[in-house]
Amino acid sequence: MNSQIKNAARDLAAADRVTALTGAGISVESGIPPFRGKGGLWEKIDPMEYAHIDAFMKDPAKVWQVLIREMKDVVDRARPNAAHQGLARLETMGILKTIITQNVDGLHQLAGNTDVIEFHGSFAWQRCMNCDGRIETRRVSLVDMPPKCLCGGILRPECVFFGEMISLDHMSRSRLAASSCDIMLVVGTSATVQPAAYMPIIAKRAGARIIEINSERTPLTRDVSDLFIEGKAGNIFDCLLMEIEKLR
Ligand code: OAD
Repeated sequence: MNSQIKNAARDLAAADRVTALTGAGISVESGIPPFRGKGGLWEKIDPMEYAHIDAFMKDPAKVWQVLIREMKDVVDRARPNAAHQGLARLETMGILKTIITQNVDGLHQLAGNTDVIEFHGSFAWQRCMNCDGRIETRRVSLVDMPPKCLCGGILRPECVFFGEMISLDHMSRSRLAASSCDIMLVVGTSATVQPAAYMPIIAKRAGARIIEINSERTPLTRDVSDLFIEGKAGNIFDCLLMEIEKLR
């Protein structure tokens, strides 16, 4: 057993106010590709052409056809993996309080976590740009592009596009969860997109230990993370939970 995992297990077993910050890497083992790096979505398509609000407003059919349709396919099929389940178990053990996730796939809630801040919104719902009505994404027909509401307005996912603001409510709840935790677990994020990437800095300045799990080093690894566990999140959570169960 990796000594980093043993150290993380010891810290987590003694903690009761842990916040997790998660990113696309935690859902890779559920079949959802990440955004950056090898096999990442932004390697295949230009985010400024498909994931910026201006691009959506200019040509919603194009963005639906290329980006949102593919996301719907992938997210519909995805199920929580060992890392999502590990975080859910940490909540039932009274260790983990809040997850701040940059993901829009809903897998933390499916795994059983109850306090999840969807920092970039949720892909589970679409909102009408005309009447503000909502419809579940799984109920949206893809026959006509772009899909429309009964009122004729265009539907858009309830997640943020580049160029849009993070909701004030998500922002203030996340800042609170970051500044009041004793450990922040940072899992599967490249920590390159602000303001989400700032949450570990807030936690660190407020005195928390930062435990980072990632298959490669990130901008946080050297100066912010107190402990870095390198590898796939699913495998690491399996080992971590086994160790924590022994200690409790
Ligand atoms: P990224 O795609 O930028 O980073 C994914 C991270 O996960 C990388 O650091 C990988 O090394 C790591 N990783 C990949 N597979 C892993 C595995 N099996 N186990 C552990 N780590 C793994 O994703 P995010 O950091 O989430 O925003 O990206 C942040 C935001 O950028 C996203 O929310 C999205 C994107 O543009 C919006 O769409 C607004």
